[in-house]
Amino acid sequence: MPAKKRKNAYVIVLGNEKGGTGKSTTAMHIAISLMKKGATVSTVDLDSRQQTLNRYISNRINYAEKEKLTIGMPGHHVIHQSNKPVLPEKHNDEAEEFTDLTQELRRENDFIVIDCPGNDTSLARLAHSLANTLITPMNDSFIDLDLLGHVDPETFKVEKLSFYSQLVWECRKNRAAANKPALDWVILRNRLSTTHAKNKKRMDEALKQLQNRIAFRYISGLSERVIYRELFPQGLTLMDLKDVNKKVKMSMSHIAARHEMRRLLSELKLPNID
Ligand SMILES: Nc1ncnc2c1ncn2[C@@H]1O[C@H](COP(=O)(O)OP(=O)(O)OP(=O)(O)O)[C@@H](O)[C@H]1O
Ligand SMILES: [Mg+2]
Repeated sequence: MPAKKRKNAYVIVLGNEKGGTGKSTTAMHIAISLMKKGATVSTVDLDSRQQTLNRYISNRINYAEKEKLTIGMPGHHVIHQSNKPVLPEKHNDEAEEFTDLTQELRRENDFIVIDCPGNDTSLARLAHSLANTLITPMNDSFIDLDLLGHVDPETFKVEKLSFYSQLVWECRKNRAAANKPALDWVILRNRLSTTHAKNKKRMDEALKQLQNRIAFRYISGLSERVIYRELFPQGLTLMDLKDVNKKVKMSMSHIAARHEMRRLLSELKLPNID
């Protein structure tokens, strides 16, 4: 029998330092979309407190069992919180577990999707340093924009870069020093509303100004749709609806949402994915 070819997984990290912008929802949708395209995918939840991705996948397992469905499951992993009382030792333990895990997952998968918490943790930093693509979902508001840098809402002048932008810049510098391929930083505009064209235009302008200072690209993003909240309890994604269409009825809004998700995947320009 020929030896199994070793893989070298491409790492996608969902990160920002603000809660509730859509990291876990997007992580799950990307993982399932990639699996639907035939890729081998593992997911890692680094949010040890909320464990949203973990819950999303548990819901999926339970729903599939209950409904006797055959739906794809990514290999899923959580990093356990170390019980060492001293902080540096605790961080070391967790970093070691994470490093060992990602090394193993790299060999076995085409993609690793890592979901970070909405705050700065040592594990999230480590994950950022491994990212080939970093996806930062943000809502279309000047509050969320502060996550990248402070932009004057009248003149659109960039006044200050955020700690988070500086962290990403450090990752880029370290990757370059280690001769690793450049990090692709993608800002994903989430929960877009069709009724606020003026705000959208102002955000466009502000993001353009920020792009002159920080290298990132921003992509069309996802609309505000109740379906994202509705799918969570069953652990489903928009990409599964065809497989379960006897249980969940497809509406026009679902079809539009799925189209949006497909466009998102294509705009990510991931390797070996058409
Ligand atoms: N495009 C969308 N339309 C409507 N609801 C959305 C959309 N994207 C995400 N949500 C909802 O917003 C809430 C927060 O999303 P999610 O948990 O993915 O964010 P997060 O960035 O992972 O949060 P945290 O930082 O707390 O981990 C969830 O209830 C989710 O269903
Ligand atoms: Mg989350």
